[in-house]
Amino acid sequence: MLSIRLVADPTGFDVLVLPVRPVTPSVDDPRPVDDSRPDSANPDTPESGSGATPVAEVPPTSLAVPADLLAEANALLPLVELTGAAGASHLTVRALREPGRLLLVGVGAGDEAGWRAAGAAIARTAGRETSITIAMPSDAGTEAVRGLAEGLWLASYRFRLPEREEAADRGAELDEVLVAVADPDAHQAALHLARVTARTTRLARDLTNTPSSVKSPEWLADQIVAAAAEYPELRVRVRDPEQLAEEGFGGILAVGGGSATGPRMVELGWQPADARTHVVLVGKGITFDTGGISIKPRDAMKLMRKDMAGAAAILAATIGAAALRLPVRITALAPLAENMVSGSAFRPGDVVRHYGGLTSETTNSDAEGRLVLADALAYAVDQLAPDLLVDIATLTGANAVALGKRHSALYSENDELAQALIDAGREAGELAWRMPLPNDYVEYLGSDIADLYSAPAAGAGSVTAALFLREFTGPLRDRWVHVDMSAPSWAEGNDGVLAKGATGYGVRTLLRWLGGLE
Ligand code: BES
Ligand code: MN
Ligand code: ZN
Repeated sequence: MLSIRLVADPTGFDVLVLPVRPVTPSVDDPRPVDDSRPDSANPDTPESGSGATPVAEVPPTSLAVPADLLAEANALLPLVELTGAAGASHLTVRALREPGRLLLVGVGAGDEAGWRAAGAAIARTAGRETSITIAMPSDAGTEAVRGLAEGLWLASYRFRLPEREEAADRGAELDEVLVAVADPDAHQAALHLARVTARTTRLARDLTNTPSSVKSPEWLADQIVAAAAEYPELRVRVRDPEQLAEEGFGGILAVGGGSATGPRMVELGWQPADARTHVVLVGKGITFDTGGISIKPRDAMKLMRKDMAGAAAILAATIGAAALRLPVRITALAPLAENMVSGSAFRPGDVVRHYGGLTSETTNSDAEGRLVLADALAYAVDQLAPDLLVDIATLTGANAVALGKRHSALYSENDELAQALIDAGREAGELAWRMPLPNDYVEYLGSDIADLYSAPAAGAGSVTAALFLREFTGPLRDRWVHVDMSAPSWAEGNDGVLAKGATGYGVRTLLRWLGGLE
């Protein structure tokens, strides 16, 4: 991970980054803001000379930027059409002068989101430099540093198979960023928050991007055991198929039954002495989803190595909570299984007995996620009796049909809890959209031979999956949140802080939300 250091007075930089922000008209400015003004209606008209109101400016920075360089930067803004919009940037080469390269980058409103976008833009534009210096505005708060650092670390992420790490074109990559602020100590805590958030998001992305030829349930469990070993207070237990059978985890065993690599369940616990709230996080961990006997068509199957992104998110977030020493008790449950097609695979029409005894009739073996989650939810309610219960899963293609590519579908009967998670996500830069749990769909869950149908053909696929899960929440029904994150778990290309591939969705939301709990 790229090195980011806070420094009071850096020297000898060859790339200098200056922030750009939109000019907000001040009360002393007699000129009215008028959107119909030709120069703002038509951004092609460069503003220069006297009389024109600049739309953007480089704010005073804590680093002493020479007056002529500052004047040059400000004069450049209209020429390169920078308005200060968050994440818009321009790199200027200055032959025979120092610094030799000047990167102007918009920070929008100058809030955390604006700086996050700026950080991502810097990581992409300066990706071929080795070292850069960013001059922070003199009034930059801790949220600016946090946003900037997260943006830099998240956008510079690239997945590499371990064996290709060496061969990578090192040297052509950004490896050091100096952030010039007046008082570095005042920002160390913000940088630490950003570092933990980025490291754990990157862990979730790495696990999710890993090919399923490597990523068996056992391998995934081993990765978590290794990552958790860094924090001795984290307790981790991995159940193997025999133990799962002894305790009655019928859903996990059914789904994992067709695979040559048996299922597991990871239970990861963080229990600080001062915790008053116990949260159980459950994440879907299907290491590959062929659909099973109800096999998926070719195009729908090709990305199914990502079907454990929910498990990756809750496990990484719990490791992050330990790294930040958050004063909340967390138990993360990750049922891990590979949904394969074979002679030992479970079949449509089979009846599965879940943990605790509720049964479901498998209508479609491709609705496997809810079967493993049901076991983990029932176990949480029965054995852990937490205060709050959250599950997150790449559960249905219907998530994207309803909400597009970036919003998860969030379900809860608890308005306050739902809003708290949506707000945490918005602050952290992840989107979630509240969805209903309509009772008039519950009748479709009825089966003739079991307590429930696993996948009723009633349409509203994300909704019926949520209603199925709700049946396993017992007395925690109104303290439960379900997040269907199939859509935002993957990015088709680089986009802001997202690098092509696994997004690590959920880690940032969960860490932010857990950090706000009492
Ligand atoms: N893992 C898939 C859901 C999925 C689809 C995730 C696309 C990411 C992208 C899940 O196990 C699944 O197959 N769901 C089915 C449910 C159906 C059989 C009721 C679906 O969405 O089609
Ligand atoms: Mn499936
Ligand atoms: Zn699946």
